Amino acid sequence: MTNGDDSAPAHATQRYAVFGQPIAHSLSPRIHAAFARQAGIELEYRAVEASLDGFVAELARFAEQGGRGANVTLPLKQHAARLCLDLSERARRADSVNTLVRHGQGWHGDSTDGAGLVRDITGRYGLDLRERRTLLVGAGGAARAVAFALIDAGIAELVIANRTSEHADALADAIGLPDRVRTRYWDDLGQWGAYDLVVNATSAGHGTQGLKLPRSLLTPRTLCYDLSYGKAAIGFLAWARSAGAERAIDGLGMLVEQAAESFALWHGQRPDTAAVYADLRAYVPGDAED
Ligand code: ATR
Repeated sequence: MTNGDDSAPAHATQRYAVFGQPIAHSLSPRIHAAFARQAGIELEYRAVEASLDGFVAELARFAEQGGRGANVTLPLKQHAARLCLDLSERARRADSVNTLVRHGQGWHGDSTDGAGLVRDITGRYGLDLRERRTLLVGAGGAARAVAFALIDAGIAELVIANRTSEHADALADAIGLPDRVRTRYWDDLGQWGAYDLVVNATSAGHGTQGLKLPRSLLTPRTLCYDLSYGKAAIGFLAWARSAGAERAIDGLGMLVEQAAESFALWHGQRPDTAAVYADLRAYVPGDAED
């Protein structure tokens, strides 16, 4: 992998950005500025507000300005996958792109979310994913982006439950491993026993209707993980703790790890994430037991 746009002058400021909507509160500029300081690299990394309709034009403008790489977040990840000249295998499988790398006249798309999740659980928290019977709650873009990585990390079984059962079935079909992946109906989810790992990949925490999950999903050894962080994760983490989970972890570490993975794709070196994570944790509501 090269470092981007060959046509940009060697001395030009390296330009990076994150695109999404809403984007004003994105932590990515702060994270990448910290990684860059650590690596001694001078770069610009800004947040660009882009709707589904406006994204193509914004991305083209960014490329004209010498943009070398970008992150893409909600609601653009699937859309971004359609705009790339080529995709990594993990982006193709997830049908999701959160990292763009400028290659010649086009974009190479990658998806680092799943790797970020696995690295957070196994690296930061030192927990083993292998053989965990896993419940994935939700079947939208976020769920799809992490499902393959969890399977690759060696979980025993993936059960997908979603409010709209057709979406869960579609995700299970896309994964295509009927021996290891199955779906359950939302309404009788509590009748099928407990799990070693429960991952909340719904966007329920961003809305007013919280998740209502049965306590019977958990044992005192269950790890609960919310892909969200901050206010959006509070409801699920509170439920997990009150229902007796061994650990309840928010997605702040995943955010930092997926960013580190993007940074490595752009700059060829992996930053140390511990200090950057600690810095963010100091002011993101501390829901994680770490
Ligand atoms: P994202 O990219 O964040 O995954 P998405 O693709 O719109 O966003 O998917 C949102 C997911 O959260 C879906 O699985 C959605 O369930 P539906 O498929 O039934 O829409 C789920 N979700 C959102 N709000 C929810 C709620 N209040 N209760 C349960 N599931 C919810």
